[in-house]
Amino acid sequence: MATSAAPTAAGTEHSATGSAATLLTADDVAKTYRTRRREVTALRGLSLDIGAGEFVALVGRSGCGKSTLLRLLSGLLPATAGQIRVAGQPIDGPPRQARCVFQDYAQSLLPWKTVAGNVRFGLRHAYEPAEGGHDELVAHYLGLVGLGHAADRYPWELSGGMQQRAAIARALAARPQLLFMDEAFSGVDALSRAKLQDVLLHAWAEEGLTVVFVTHDIDEAVYLADRVVVLHPEGRGVLADVRTGLPRPRGQLTTRESPEFLHHRRELLHLVLDGEDSGE
Ligand SMILES: Nc1ncnc2c1ncn2[C@@H]1O[C@H](COP(=O)(O)OP(=O)(O)O)[C@@H](O)[C@H]1O
Ligand SMILES: [Mg+2]
Repeated sequence: MATSAAPTAAGTEHSATGSAATLLTADDVAKTYRTRRREVTALRGLSLDIGAGEFVALVGRSGCGKSTLLRLLSGLLPATAGQIRVAGQPIDGPPRQARCVFQDYAQSLLPWKTVAGNVRFGLRHAYEPAEGGHDELVAHYLGLVGLGHAADRYPWELSGGMQQRAAIARALAARPQLLFMDEAFSGVDALSRAKLQDVLLHAWAEEGLTVVFVTHDIDEAVYLADRVVVLHPEGRGVLADVRTGLPRPRGQLTTRESPEFLHHRRELLHLVLDGEDSGE
């Protein structure tokens, strides 16, 4: 079933990494929201290529269109103009090989199912497991996010950080190639957030994922990603595309104190804050 060959999208001007095959392409994409009273063009003229296996963070000031772009890329919203392609194929709805994790973990898990039940639900329609069956896979993904001990508990018995780990395990259980996350760690306390970041980095490395991670937190973007894409404050495409490439594996203390981390953090803060100041 595996579609191993990701055809290189025609018209791609550059390869982001110089080697990875392009998995996700946004080609001159625009989105206009039409409400009864007015139209809001949240994004226009946005083009972006993301290579297989990349960890890309999307940042920018509030209202610049980060969530809109993530919904377009994940097929949850149709673009008003332009095209999104996954492995060369134009999408028309959420692609099979993608899953999303959002900020509001309290609404994402099914409260009447245990943690294991929620994870099992994630793989339900994705594929038929081989020998060992569902139980082994559920145990694998719970272990991957450090929730092996909480399999039989209910979501409401868990802290916010643990619920979000369960949501990640459920998304991963479908074995997606692409994982889209929108401010997924913004609703938890600082220590849980650091733990979630490391859980995600571990899962990304283990599962060979491609991650597109929206955050308003520049430090989080630099800590997690290899590439930080800054959106224009008024929705006019990509303002900057910064390849950070800090060494891996990363550590909450070692990475965040390193001169490269501080350099990129400063550079990106300038880009986002300057964007905020330039009103014209
Ligand atoms: N459903 C919607 N209807 C109308 N306007 C919307 C809708 N969703 C977002 N917008 C507008 O689109 C712009 C971008 O929003 P959003 O993508 O949520 O930005 P961000 O995630 O960067 O804060 C904002 O001006 C916002 O008000
Ligand atoms: Mg948003």
